[in-house]
Amino acid sequence: MKIKTAFFCQNCGYESAKWTGKCPSCGQWNTFVEEKVQKDIPLRNAGWQPEKEHGAKSDNIVNLSEISGTEEERLLTPDAELNRVLGGGIVPGSLVLVGGEPGIGKSTLFLQNALLLKDITTLYISGEESAQQIKMRADRLQVKNDLFYLLTETSTQTIFQEIKKLRPQLVIVDSIQTLQSPFIESAPGSVSQIRETTAELQRFAKESHTPVFLIGHITKDGSIAGPKILEHMVDTVLQFEGDQHYAYRILRTIKNRFGSTAELGIYEMTGGGLRQVTNPSEILISQREDQLSGVAIAATIEGMRPMLVEVQALVTQSVYGTPQRTATGFDLRRLQLLLAVLEKRGGFHFGVKDVFLNIAGGIRVEDPSIDLAVLCALLSSYEDIPISSKICFAGEVGLSGEIRAVNRIEQRVAEAEKLGFEKIFISRYNKKGTDISKFNIEVIPVGRVDEVYRGLF
Ligand code: TYD
Ligand code: MG
Repeated sequence: MKIKTAFFCQNCGYESAKWTGKCPSCGQWNTFVEEKVQKDIPLRNAGWQPEKEHGAKSDNIVNLSEISGTEEERLLTPDAELNRVLGGGIVPGSLVLVGGEPGIGKSTLFLQNALLLKDITTLYISGEESAQQIKMRADRLQVKNDLFYLLTETSTQTIFQEIKKLRPQLVIVDSIQTLQSPFIESAPGSVSQIRETTAELQRFAKESHTPVFLIGHITKDGSIAGPKILEHMVDTVLQFEGDQHYAYRILRTIKNRFGSTAELGIYEMTGGGLRQVTNPSEILISQREDQLSGVAIAATIEGMRPMLVEVQALVTQSVYGTPQRTATGFDLRRLQLLLAVLEKRGGFHFGVKDVFLNIAGGIRVEDPSIDLAVLCALLSSYEDIPISSKICFAGEVGLSGEIRAVNRIEQRVAEAEKLGFEKIFISRYNKKGTDISKFNIEVIPVGRVDEVYRGLF
């Protein structure tokens, strides 16, 4: 039998019959690798066959109204952040993919949660670390659990044999890139292996009603097949992110068949594992005595929670021909856009300045309402005039320099008031339909960039 091979893009999983330099699907270069594939679809049964009597119904087809519609009871973990991100606990039979860069704390998060789930049998399958290493980590976390089982194995065949014996109620696979199915010949971590092992685990999860968590590494250079190719196969995709040099980690929902994707969990990496952060605002604003220029506080909403975040900007005279722009925790293109708005609509000459922007705490903020604070931090550093630490901002900035309305403004204002802020700048368009009279904090509506400038300096 001739072995069939195909070329797969290791970044997005695109399949091609011949080698190509640039992936037509995701546009990455040099990502195609030849893999052996085995087509096991029996051609006889494929396609449409008009044999059955007209009107005869196969056993596989069920009438929707005959399915009992009771929502299955979710498994609640002791970790409120994880429960929320999953949409209210673990759904039986669900397949959850958790992606993140190496070293961010994925293994720690799931080891810790599995250990804390005291009443259910958990199987932790590790293809990356030895049993001793995991034991050392568990000792560090200082939790004991008699129903926690460990399996250091990479072959799905052996894994399923062990699962049949143990009958765990929760399975964690660390990581999907190390698994190997005996039915596929290519190396672990390749696109076809990842697809096949995930498909096997998916069948296991659905048939046995056991929730399965898959941990997957994301690498920037695409040397390991990215978990992106699995996103459509799993029920839920979570992303664990943060800056390795900071202690804060964010668990974000990217996709969820059982809940909202607007959820978010915040953790702090400590010497004894991950700690849930229930009040994020207080940690994300750095404590400072004297007022410095280039600092502005944004009243953002991440997930369903309001969160006050500190934006720091440094604007200096450019010494080289091309001015530098650097952004940490904020989209660089968005920064360039805001600088262009300031240049064109405000008449500020950022074209001859180096600009550095930083979001405190090493977190990445996706809420566009942070724009206004970024803009004010830039202006504050440009003018070298500090903004009072009792002022915060919530507004999106449009291309023509207008300050646009943002959602859930009342929640933002309430959070700012709770944290002792005295003034909050919001969009003028947000003022309509919002009852701001109930707040003690002074709400300042602004419509354009120049109004903000006049209001501040
Ligand atoms: P790890 O869970 O191994 O990351 P991943 O599985 O995503 O690759 O965690 C990596 C880092 O976490 C490592 O640098 C050590 C640190 N760590 C702590 O700071 N405190 C702890 O209690 C533990 C267990 C790990
Ligand atoms: Mg790990």
